[in-house]
Amino acid sequence: MSAHRFLTPAFPGYESVPARLLADISVLPCDLHVWRGPRPALYAMRGGDPGKVIARAERGLPFLIRETDADLLRGALAASLPGVLGNQRISPIERSKTAYLIAAKVLAPLFVHEDFLDHDGFATTRKVMESIALGLLEDEEMIWAMVATMLKHTATHTHAINTAVYGIALARSIPLGSQEAIRGVALGGLIHDIGMNRVPRAVLDKAGPLNDLEWRLVRGHAKAGYDMVVRAMGYPPPYAHIIAEHHERCDGSGYPEGRTGSSIALDSQLVAIVDAFDALTTRRPFRRALSAFDALQLMRLGMEGQFSDELVCGFADLLGGWKALGHDRSASNPPKLLRKAG
Ligand SMILES: [Fe+2]
Repeated sequence: MSAHRFLTPAFPGYESVPARLLADISVLPCDLHVWRGPRPALYAMRGGDPGKVIARAERGLPFLIRETDADLLRGALAASLPGVLGNQRISPIERSKTAYLIAAKVLAPLFVHEDFLDHDGFATTRKVMESIALGLLEDEEMIWAMVATMLKHTATHTHAINTAVYGIALARSIPLGSQEAIRGVALGGLIHDIGMNRVPRAVLDKAGPLNDLEWRLVRGHAKAGYDMVVRAMGYPPPYAHIIAEHHERCDGSGYPEGRTGSSIALDSQLVAIVDAFDALTTRRPFRRALSAFDALQLMRLGMEGQFSDELVCGFADLLGGWKALGHDRSASNPPKLLRKAG
């Protein structure tokens, strides 16, 4: 696997690592440096005890690692996630903050580098999402701690993590089916937009309206993402259809195939809803972030017919928005969401 490029331009050739991310790693996987004077200075050597290093860390100063060591650190962070999520000695919100930061650190390159979805990169991605899915499946308090922790900015990898977390929460509440099916939603939700890596930067960054050709390129990301995952795995994993179908809409207005209603798998419909909800509740360069209430109203009324009303109401109910949408839960039947994924 190729090492990814540095993510902190202030320290060319190095990547910063907040000390808290290292707390649950048993052995330092690479050298740690700190920035002193004109260049980074070695602070702790590979093989050392991270606990001791953190204890004497200088306050507020992030550690640095060489960018060529980034994959070693990603592997160690991914392996530490189950320990972070299961650490009952600290509060759910503190656990989820650290877990979210680790997930963001490990997964960011996946959405930046075209060549990252190789076999090793995908194995690490899977390990991170399976740890989070398992942690959230076993502990409802952790779901809400993760939702409270979410970063709402325009970065693709945080949108991907948020989509996966909302997806796990909704899939768990339906219920969608087996833990395997919910893990599929977590992975499908995480990598649903991976095909955007294939869309030229100039198109993604274009300030004005897209022309027909540019729209075709953007719309191609669903099929491109499906193909990328099949190529990385060597076969279509059980959640691959979520990537291909996440822009299909129940009224046939979606793409790439313009499918309708139940011809779109239930887990794809579910990811489409949480994907749209996170996008609408995140600030974009051209519009403010909507509140959860406004986003759900828009999805139910302004985009009427595009999403399963049952699923949107189930999601609103889950987020505590049922009453806010004008329904009195005690006076109406809760949504029946017992169909299984196709
Ligand atoms: Fe998409």
